[in-house]
Amino acid sequence: MAAVTDRPVRLRRNRDNRHIRELTRAVRLHREQFIQPLFVVEGLAAREAVPGLRDVYRETPASLLRQIESDLESGISKFLLFGVPGTRVEPTRDLFISHTFTSARLADIRSRFGDAVWVAADVCLCSYTTHGHCGILTDSRDHVDNDVTVAALARAALEFAHAGADCIAPSDMQDGRVAAIRASLDGAGFERRALMSYAAKFHSAFYGPFRVAANSAPDRANTLKDRASYQIDPGRPDDALLAARRDAAEGADILMVKPGLPYLDVLARLSAAIPLPWAVYQTSGEQAGIDVLAAQNLADPVRAQLETWTAFARAGAQMIISYAARRAALYLDQQGTQE
Ligand code: PBG
Ligand code: ZN
Repeated sequence: MAAVTDRPVRLRRNRDNRHIRELTRAVRLHREQFIQPLFVVEGLAAREAVPGLRDVYRETPASLLRQIESDLESGISKFLLFGVPGTRVEPTRDLFISHTFTSARLADIRSRFGDAVWVAADVCLCSYTTHGHCGILTDSRDHVDNDVTVAALARAALEFAHAGADCIAPSDMQDGRVAAIRASLDGAGFERRALMSYAAKFHSAFYGPFRVAANSAPDRANTLKDRASYQIDPGRPDDALLAARRDAAEGADILMVKPGLPYLDVLARLSAAIPLPWAVYQTSGEQAGIDVLAAQNLADPVRAQLETWTAFARAGAQMIISYAARRAALYLDQQGTQE
């Protein structure tokens, strides 16, 4: 046998040209795996750009439908809807929070597009509350009351199911909400509606543009100033594993890691451990980072975007929630041509 040492192992043969790279690639992206977030805001005269994000808007009810139509033409048919009400309330355990604005938008989408679209409805209270927290506060105002909040979320989820949501996506990070929402959906005959849990959602600094878009930043003047007491600490990956296992046991159909790039290790580990479909949420702050680099000619937007999406697929995500989903088909067509 010839000595292996006198000739180098030529790994570069499989990188030599575009054709062999296409043939040997193990991780592939497809437009079918993308979900586009949408914001719809009550009381706007015209749609408004979201600061920091390219081609993302706070839509009016009418512009929302036009945007979905254009996204369908771009090959995107799955959406995650955030409804932003025009008035905020100081919710108490006795006050029923109205979700009629968002429900009406879901019903609009369903009657206009039928089953050509798949729509997940985000369920949370941070766009509804005066203090911007994801739930109802205790009387001391220094803590989100878990169980009172869960009951309110389950009512909202039921309203969204009635309005036609295909999937309910709770992002509040209270304990037990998956079981409560599943029970409320099943109790009303909505056994076929899916539940996507923001299971591994971290207390992150990469949510900035979203909070402007959804008008959902916690009020710094309040006793409880941030979401650290309900979102996962970045230094506690095991907490994410426990939450994901718990949500799977409570009946979640899809689990999510959020944000994406800073938590690729968590995505890889959890997706290997739990055989449910995994979603990753490339958050508004992550997207703004790419968009700023591209705007300053410091990165090629197509290559930067595809590189991050490839990382998500490599780490085990089947579906990718991205503000740039509406450019995915375009970018995928250009893959390899601009290298
Ligand atoms: C909270 C919620 C957040 C996002 C979606 N729902 C985070 C937060 O405000 O803490 C972030 C999404 C993004 O940044 O793109 N219910
Ligand atoms: Zn929230």
